[in-house]
Amino acid sequence: MSDPHPQSVVSARALRKSFGAFRAVDGIDFEVQSGRCFGFLGPNGAGKTTTLRMLLGMTPKTSGELRIFGLSIPEQGRAVRARVGVVPQLDNLDPDFTVAENLLTFASYFGISAQQAAARLGDLLAFANLEERRDARTDALSGGMQRRLTIARALVNDPELVILDEPTTGLDPQARHVIWSRLSALRERGITLILTTHYMEEAERLCDELVIMDHGRILDQGSPRALIRRHIEPEVVEIRGARSAALTRQAEAHGCRVEPVGTGLYCYTQDPRPLLAALQRQDELVFLHRPGGLEDVFLRLTGRGLRD
Ligand SMILES: Nc1ncnc2c1ncn2[C@@H]1O[C@H](COP(=O)(O)OP(=O)(O)O)[C@@H](O)[C@H]1O
Ligand SMILES: [Mg+2]
Repeated sequence: MSDPHPQSVVSARALRKSFGAFRAVDGIDFEVQSGRCFGFLGPNGAGKTTTLRMLLGMTPKTSGELRIFGLSIPEQGRAVRARVGVVPQLDNLDPDFTVAENLLTFASYFGISAQQAAARLGDLLAFANLEERRDARTDALSGGMQRRLTIARALVNDPELVILDEPTTGLDPQARHVIWSRLSALRERGITLILTTHYMEEAERLCDELVIMDHGRILDQGSPRALIRRHIEPEVVEIRGARSAALTRQAEAHGCRVEPVGTGLYCYTQDPRPLLAALQRQDELVFLHRPGGLEDVFLRLTGRGLRD
């Protein structure tokens, strides 16, 4: 169960990053509580990576206040980084090294003794499910294996906080599910997770709390469930490939809020039954009934894709 008095691991106030006149991160506030999985959900260019890079002291903030473990960034960045694991957007494993060598070399960067690192190696390989690949060169691994190794590598210093930039982008669905289960395992160990994603499903499954970001700003924040409840009707009927004024009127007559999406219509409603009954009487219509989700929230908040 969640701690009634959770501790803040990260706290950002009016955090801003400008590149010249362009504000990549335009004054954002957020708090990440201990032991939670916190997500930044947003499209490419939203400012997610820039935010993470500021957290890690990899790029200086332009203004605002940033604390991790109560320590000030960037001033105390070194002390903070010793307690954080990082999974960058692109795997940066050393292709000339084996799986085991990658882990051991990385441990040495943290001043972990060879003996200590060797003792931890088994656990890390098991976590990544790469025991049988310990002597394989990393360029021989699949994308999913490389990602798992990068995540295991982020654990060499036994971090309290792990920061992951798009942990599953580019992976196939199977590999993505494996990563999700590994991340859930970390969270169950009490490790705080911060991740970015542009996958609504990933945010919905993994995150206890998330911010929806676009153009360097936070549009809203909360648990996935709270965000859905706040912005979206509980049920959606998607009518595929049959966008028309007549169908729109029909859905509206049955109490739906109708949004054109691509070549179809999304009909948002408290009660889909009248519309579904009407649609079932019309041959050749393809439609799907589903609960409202984060994708709907995102479309509503950004307006993107709905009005064209
Ligand atoms: N070093 C940089 N110089 C100039 N613009 C940058 C730099 N890094 C990022 N940007 C711009 O800032 C915006 C946010 O980028 P980024 O944080 O990488 O977004 P995301 O990770 O959400 O895709 C983008 O428009 C990007 O082009
Ligand atoms: Mg990014």
